[in-house]
Amino acid sequence: MKPLIAGNWKMNGLAADARALAEDLKASSQAAGPACELLVCPPFLHVPLVAEILGGSSIHVGGQDCHATASGAHTGDTSGAMLRDLGCSHVILGHSERRADHGESDALIRAKAEAALAAGLVPIVCVGETAGERSSGQALTVIARQLKGSVPVGMAAERLVVAYEPVWAIGTGDTATPGDVAEVHNEIRRVLAGLVGEGSDQVRILYGGSVKPENAAELLAQSNVGGALVGGASLKPQDFLAIAASCP
Ligand code: PGA
Repeated sequence: MKPLIAGNWKMNGLAADARALAEDLKASSQAAGPACELLVCPPFLHVPLVAEILGGSSIHVGGQDCHATASGAHTGDTSGAMLRDLGCSHVILGHSERRADHGESDALIRAKAEAALAAGLVPIVCVGETAGERSSGQALTVIARQLKGSVPVGMAAERLVVAYEPVWAIGTGDTATPGDVAEVHNEIRRVLAGLVGEGSDQVRILYGGSVKPENAAELLAQSNVGGALVGGASLKPQDFLAIAASCP
């Protein structure tokens, strides 16, 4: 399976910025070649605009979250079906910023992943340890617990993407060492074998946390790294495409 390079635009940019970014990506990606799959996840309000601009291109569009139910009295929320209806193929779930800002639990993330699957979306389930958990030697335990709690039981491997994002590496400029990334990704692969069973080696495991053009090639070359989840650098089309061009 090709690596997946996913851009998480977070809560950045007005409509004009989203338009410019999407148009630039569409124009520049045509020359980039098919070494990897590309996905951008704009803020909800910009999804229709970005999906329209990128329609007909090979760049997928995704959401940054969805609700755990299909519809109903949930003021301010967005359902997986609404994202799918606008042309989204993926949805990021359980990002550490949502776990922190909104108190999202593993059980809630699992319910959201089930709702996303029912809506026809591919969930990108995020896991990752804090600095304190890493320094106290708990990183692998925390990640295994998050996976066991947030991945839907017995789901089809080809419908799942997992992202390893150490919390201390997000937006800080610090990245995990290639050796640490390989260790965690190998552990994630091992845990997934027990969770999704057959075909678990097909689940793409993305690395995220201060991925830049300068470090992408080394990170993407590590064992069991199937792509990247890119925050800050995804707001600069040339950097995002340079990361994509680093795919092995
Ligand atoms: P960053 O964000 O690349 O800015 O560190 C990654 C993410 O949060 O997905």
